[in-house]
Amino acid sequence: MRTHKCGEVTKQHLDETIELCGWVHRRRDHGGVIFIDLRDREGLVQVVFNPDETEAFAIAESVRSEYVLHVKGRVKDRLEGTINPNMKTGEIEVMVNQIEILNESETPPFPIESDIEVNEEMRLRYRYIDLRSTEMQQKMKVRRDVTRNLRNFFDDREYYEIETPILTKATPEGARDYIVPSRTHENAFFALPQSPQLYKQLLMISGMDKYYQIVRCFRDEDLRADRQPEFTQLDIETSFMNEDEIMETMEEMMKQLFSEILNVDLGEKFPVMTYEEGMRRYGSDKPDLRIPLELVDIADEMKEVDFKVFSGPANDPNGRVVALKIPNGSDLTRKEIDVLTKYVSIYGARGLAYIKVNDRDVGLEGLQSPIVKFAPAEVWESVLSKTDAKTGDLIFFGADKAKVVNEAMGALRVKIGLDRGLAEGDWKPLWLIDFPMFDWDDKNQRWNAIHHPFTAPSCTIEELEANPGQALSRAYDLILNGTELGGGSIRINHTDMQTKVLEILGIGEEEAREKFGFLLDALKYGCPPHGGIAFGLDRLVMLMTGSDSIRDVIAFPKTQTAACPLVDAPAIVNDIQLRELGIKLRKPAEKTES
Ligand code: AMO
Ligand code: AMP
Repeated sequence: MRTHKCGEVTKQHLDETIELCGWVHRRRDHGGVIFIDLRDREGLVQVVFNPDETEAFAIAESVRSEYVLHVKGRVKDRLEGTINPNMKTGEIEVMVNQIEILNESETPPFPIESDIEVNEEMRLRYRYIDLRSTEMQQKMKVRRDVTRNLRNFFDDREYYEIETPILTKATPEGARDYIVPSRTHENAFFALPQSPQLYKQLLMISGMDKYYQIVRCFRDEDLRADRQPEFTQLDIETSFMNEDEIMETMEEMMKQLFSEILNVDLGEKFPVMTYEEGMRRYGSDKPDLRIPLELVDIADEMKEVDFKVFSGPANDPNGRVVALKIPNGSDLTRKEIDVLTKYVSIYGARGLAYIKVNDRDVGLEGLQSPIVKFAPAEVWESVLSKTDAKTGDLIFFGADKAKVVNEAMGALRVKIGLDRGLAEGDWKPLWLIDFPMFDWDDKNQRWNAIHHPFTAPSCTIEELEANPGQALSRAYDLILNGTELGGGSIRINHTDMQTKVLEILGIGEEEAREKFGFLLDALKYGCPPHGGIAFGLDRLVMLMTGSDSIRDVIAFPKTQTAACPLVDAPAIVNDIQLRELGIKLRKPAEKTES
């Protein structure tokens, strides 16, 4: 139907007769001449209707926004003064002599591309219209470019792309499962995969050597800006590669991707940081290295002070007391500090003490703070010198259980860093390694796996058993600008170690057989050393496109309450279907058909 795409027509097509198809983006009548911005996936072009072309002009008069047109005309230079240097097609226009309305459109529920803020529920309900905007089309294009680039990378290296089942059994990745009832097996349910973790390990046992898959994963968990219940992983597994080799390959992949898609150089070698260092310096296992602020431990200073809030955690082996210096932060007002205090309270902090360094040279006199009175001058001098505070700086303090301090002060560090424009550099990737194997769950009095239960420890089975809390894992996470882009590990490839880890996690023999018997069996049949990683593809594209929300890079995402307003899912199922599945609802649905 068309000879060119709207957004592609430039001066090189001058005087050619061309045919275009697209949507009416905007129509303007100017002293008897009609201008239409015609839009397709490639962009906009101005098409012009002169009254001399009586028939075409009459039709053009009747078109409205979002009508679909087919036009034929000649490419002309724009008049001096009407050239738009911001548009790829801004130097030309198309003088139309034939027009066909391919379809009409009702007035769209919101204009495509305008400064009017449209609420997200509305955008998602009419997603097909929302996706017409240049911004969304651009994001979908980047996503396509990214997946193509990644596929090429792995195809070139002889990784096999292998599909794994969607109807399967629970894979523990720490979230709730989405389950699907089976009609043919009474009382039994499939689980949708939280990841293809166990299948990709089985593929290594099968001798597939190198696998990748761009794969949908499902997790019923609390949603946030960077989480969706249904999301896509770039999933990878390899045999006979150690963690350094895997990390090196993944680093190469990332560098190639950023260089080819964004023309960004991610640097020589990604820094590698231990979990311990991440927690100590940034209160986080996904530190945003663009932000130059750091937590400074001051428990030693606070052990004897006359302020329980500080001395308590300073003397508690599970406590932590830190200072966070904000350069030139003394301009923060009482009100701003109150807002920040409220912010840290989300993470469980019970307060946010601070000191303003009004004059560094005059001792206590120069400090402004509600807490200075609780400790002698030497204590504050030591804090000021440890944090290298200068006149005009402000120091925040966090004191509590280490977990609370890390979360609250780690988040505060990022918030202040970003709010005050302190971030340095655009892209700061790093590897985080040496995670603990387990995390003690006080409430349930048990160990939880920090990665998943198939991650290999870096110690022997005896050491693991003797001291689970001290054991480190052979896991690695790739962090970019404070976002966990991917995580992986070397896996356990011996039955005895796997059984021991499950046992430490409180999964007894019977339960282990029931849940993972197939894996425990498979490990006995010559399981090679293997390991891998999975990246959150949506998160990656979100960062690469500078999007605020993961929903902006998914064509048809779910809302924050895990629903799809477009098709209205989840939906009520009729009684016949329920009966076939052997399911009886506890509270019968109101609108069931029978
Ligand atoms: P993990 O659970 O760390 O590891 O997931 C890997 C990556 O997937 C992304 N991700 C998500 N993205 C969007 N919405 C979600 N709800 C969501 N959950 C996770 C993150 C994360 O880094 N099988 C292991 C990987 C392995 O060991 O090889 C796994 O799934 O970017
Ligand atoms: P209070 O004596 O409770 O009024 O607290 C004095 C200062 O310490 C206030 O600025 C509080 O915000 C702060 N504060 C209270 N609890 C903590 C805590 N756990 N960590 C850091 N600062 C705190």
